[in-house]
Amino acid sequence: MNHEPVMLNEVLNFLEGHEHKKILDGTLGLGGYSEAMLKKFPDCFVLGLDRDEQAINFSRNRLKNFEELSRFQALHKNFSAINEVPEINSFNAYVFDLGVSNMQLTTPERGFSFQNDGPLDMRMNPNDPDSLTAAEVLKAYNEKELAKIFWEYGEEKFSRQIAAAIKKFKGPLENTSDLVNLIRTTLPQPVQRKMGTHPARRIFQALRIFVNDETKELENLLAALKKISSSKNGALLIFVSYHSLEDRLVKNFFRSGQANNLGKILTRHPLTPSENEIEKNYKARSAKLRAFCLSGH
Ligand SMILES: C[S@@+](CC[C@H](N)C(=O)[O-])C[C@H]1O[C@@H](n2cnc3c(N)ncnc32)[C@H](O)[C@@H]1O
Repeated sequence: MNHEPVMLNEVLNFLEGHEHKKILDGTLGLGGYSEAMLKKFPDCFVLGLDRDEQAINFSRNRLKNFEELSRFQALHKNFSAINEVPEINSFNAYVFDLGVSNMQLTTPERGFSFQNDGPLDMRMNPNDPDSLTAAEVLKAYNEKELAKIFWEYGEEKFSRQIAAAIKKFKGPLENTSDLVNLIRTTLPQPVQRKMGTHPARRIFQALRIFVNDETKELENLLAALKKISSSKNGALLIFVSYHSLEDRLVKNFFRSGQANNLGKILTRHPLTPSENEIEKNYKARSAKLRAFCLSGH
């Protein structure tokens, strides 16, 4: 499993040039960012949030020395609910590394991976009573709705053909391998050869974004951050995103924040990972980092 956090140096550089006594790591994951922050800035406190209990447990264990020193705390929470965090206005920096963690991707039982067989689940928080598994989504939604999901969140050109094949399919679609096989038999061979990526990658991404309502989560987070921005706490906001939809939401949020004098955009163009990082970590290839500084008092 590649545990390398994406664009970590860039994130640390922004924090270094800014007040960083109290940092919110809104997507704790494996704790890669949090550990690096705690080590680099000896006087900082980090609060980590994640909607995935496994990530919380993993990171709490990884960072238990810092927890014992009262420098780190982990909270099982969706970032859309940051306004429930005590003293949420008092942080110097809010950092969000969106999307899926390597632990989620490489644990077959979680169902995120098209490379390992497992139940077609994909819920980041399997205890959430409101969220359907990916298999349940494929059953409950009709052809048109599925095609829309695949197109909007996966930009899959064959979204309609794949949606039609899913609805026609007579066998079970319970496991990741069932869906991978169906996609492989639906997409024309020459198309698959030209794709340059796994033929199921886009559909898996689309389902994951839909199952976890990731766009709504981000929209609600941005709305909550807008309230924080009005408290004029001078904080730094950093987002690393992996999908054009997410990046657009962040870009527009920063633009309108600047237009309304809530602060200043620090990245006129998004930063992207170095060639070297992409070579070492394939996941980094689509990352975009944007930063914003809220106005102070
Ligand atoms: C890319 S990983 C973060 C990796 C982390 N920066 C590190 O260095 O280990 C994204 C994490 O965000 C979490 N996540 C995604 N959406 C979330 C949400 N709406 N609220 C809280 N956590 C979320 C996922 O469960 C995952 O663990």
